[in-house]
Amino acid sequence: MANLSDKDILIALQEVRDPQSGKDLVSNNMVKDLQVDGGRVQFTLEFKNPNFAHKEAVQKGAENAIRAIQGVESVAIQSRVNDPLRVIPSATQPAPAPPPRPQPAKMAPKAKYTIAVASGKGGVGKTTVSVNLAVSLAQTGAKVGLLDADIYGPNVPIMMGVNKKLQTRNNRIAPLRQYDVDMVSVGFIAQGDAAIIWRGPLVGRMIQQFLSDVDWGDLDYLIIDMPPGTGDAQLTLTQSVPLTGSVIVCTPQEVALADARKGINMFKKVEVPILGVVENMSYFVAPDTGTHYDIFGQGGGKAMAKKLDVPFLGEVPLEQATREGGDNGKPIVVSTPDSPVAIAFRNITESLIANLTKENGDSGLLKRVFKIN
Ligand SMILES: Nc1ncnc2c1ncn2[C@@H]1O[C@H](COP(=O)(O)OP(=O)(O)O)[C@@H](O)[C@H]1O
Ligand SMILES: [Mg+2]
Repeated sequence: MANLSDKDILIALQEVRDPQSGKDLVSNNMVKDLQVDGGRVQFTLEFKNPNFAHKEAVQKGAENAIRAIQGVESVAIQSRVNDPLRVIPSATQPAPAPPPRPQPAKMAPKAKYTIAVASGKGGVGKTTVSVNLAVSLAQTGAKVGLLDADIYGPNVPIMMGVNKKLQTRNNRIAPLRQYDVDMVSVGFIAQGDAAIIWRGPLVGRMIQQFLSDVDWGDLDYLIIDMPPGTGDAQLTLTQSVPLTGSVIVCTPQEVALADARKGINMFKKVEVPILGVVENMSYFVAPDTGTHYDIFGQGGGKAMAKKLDVPFLGEVPLEQATREGGDNGKPIVVSTPDSPVAIAFRNITESLIANLTKENGDSGLLKRVFKIN
């Protein structure tokens, strides 16, 4: 009989990476209750975010690494979320039934990639980025959903040019479609400009309903326009949705950058990967002369991303047509696809796809091409 030690197992698990933290499973202190008995190996993987999208993949990776060790006869891996009550049984081993608790992950729509677009503060262009990103992704032929989670400032309806109310279809909420993007927003429920005063818990419930009760179908991407800021409501939201990653929007001004830093730290805290930083209103191109003006200084977003070791997706210039497109419900990638901002948005979308490909090893993504050039 093989005489394996704990050390043999830990060495193997050091080769398995946790994509959330970028560290291996052992350094990230995720391997708990390891027991090795002859050729039988048993342990628990402890995750920090209850809705981490790649839990099963990590567990499978760990299992494969152990099975590759000579002398291993059986592997039983349990996983838990920093919470001993909630034990999720591994596919390879029957475990005691978990207590009946609501599991937000199950409420989520079927999206291959769920991406939160966030900013430390409002007015930096978060919705503009969400909308143009969603439409650009749809222009690659992907199925795209857009969830307006900004309950207090639901601007997706205006920027996408949809002024309708949500209807139900087969007892579920049917999203509204525009520019090949399926959308939901409280703006499709509330009347007129009436200020919507939601209390904290209601906000969470509303978002959960948007995830669980909307007939999204099978999506490639679900883009979530997050409420601005980095408070408790935002933090809770990041934990109640199985996020693939986040995109942080900032402007070049020092204050906006400081706020963006807070946003990045919020996602780091819950170990949601940062897919990249977008610097909006980076510079102004005079429409008559084409002269490039750095109104707020230059390269701040890129430098911050480098310093915080997160990817930089690109700069979006300030352009009047972009604001007008927002007001008129025609995102710039639709209204003026060859403008500098539209080109910037398509480049950003390509960089985002490249980063997703890198994070998730999905070569299928690269095959998608823009229908417009
Ligand atoms: N690159 C840009 N050029 C010109 N106007 C922009 C640009 N990005 C955003 N805007 C305008 O700035 C305002 C705020 O943008 P918005 O996307 O609503 O920000 P947020 O969602 O962060 O509050 C909107 O009127 C929008 O049209
Ligand atoms: Mg907004």
